[in-house]
Amino acid sequence: MEALNNHIDPTKLPRHIAIIMDGNGRWAKTHGKPRVFGHKNGVTAVREVTEICAELGIEYLTLYAFSTENWSRPPSEVGALMSLLVEAVRNELKTLNKNNIRLQAIGDLDKLPASSRKALLEGIEATRNNTRMTLVLALNYSSRWEIVQACRQIGQQIKEGHLNPEEVDEQLFSRFLSTKDIPDPELLIRTSGEQRISNYLLWQIAYAELYFTEVFWPDFKKENLIEAILDYQRRERRFGKTSEQLVTDVKF
Ligand code: FPP
Repeated sequence: MEALNNHIDPTKLPRHIAIIMDGNGRWAKTHGKPRVFGHKNGVTAVREVTEICAELGIEYLTLYAFSTENWSRPPSEVGALMSLLVEAVRNELKTLNKNNIRLQAIGDLDKLPASSRKALLEGIEATRNNTRMTLVLALNYSSRWEIVQACRQIGQQIKEGHLNPEEVDEQLFSRFLSTKDIPDPELLIRTSGEQRISNYLLWQIAYAELYFTEVFWPDFKKENLIEAILDYQRRERRFGKTSEQLVTDVKF
């Protein structure tokens, strides 16, 4: 682990890593356990990955904890996920503060059960002044929802005369997304062998490097994260330019 860690180039770290934590259910199945057992062990992986990201100096870590589509799972599983969230936020609060990590959330939070929303907002409030890293939980999040609500707000601003249609550009549009104060992720990781984006940060990952691994989320450990970062660092990020142009004018 130390040896792997030493290969990371600290000057080429992604500022923001986004993760689609997938495979909890299948992991539980391989252990002959109910799906909820997978989610519980998923929380352990969340803790480990958060810790290593903070140690490495990653500024933002965004985790897809509950998608809008996840409401269609059996009510017992939805309930268990929501309870786990409340539990995890409450249990980890001290550690988050001790490690100077700020908690934030993106998504349609108004539609979360009152107890989950309360725990989350308390966690956000209690960590708001922390500066080392921001841990963003995507909860009841869906990228299409986010884009549509941005369009609605912009339309309203135009209707009320606060904005001209000519003023709407990419920068302005980004300010109406729930990630408005967060830089775009440079690295997106999805675990469990699935190679899909599943309605996650569609606008924000326009230039992200995508990394897919077969490892189920509960098994995703420090060394897996380091491997993903090393893979990212081996890639050439061109932003539409040629390799030759990059030598002279692109900061990684
Ligand atoms: C995907 O596995 C995982 C989820 C839908 C939820 C992730 C939630 C956690 C790790 C726990 C709570 C999180 C926090 C941040 C405290 P899956 O159920 O889709 O697995 P499968 O594809 O194998 O069925």
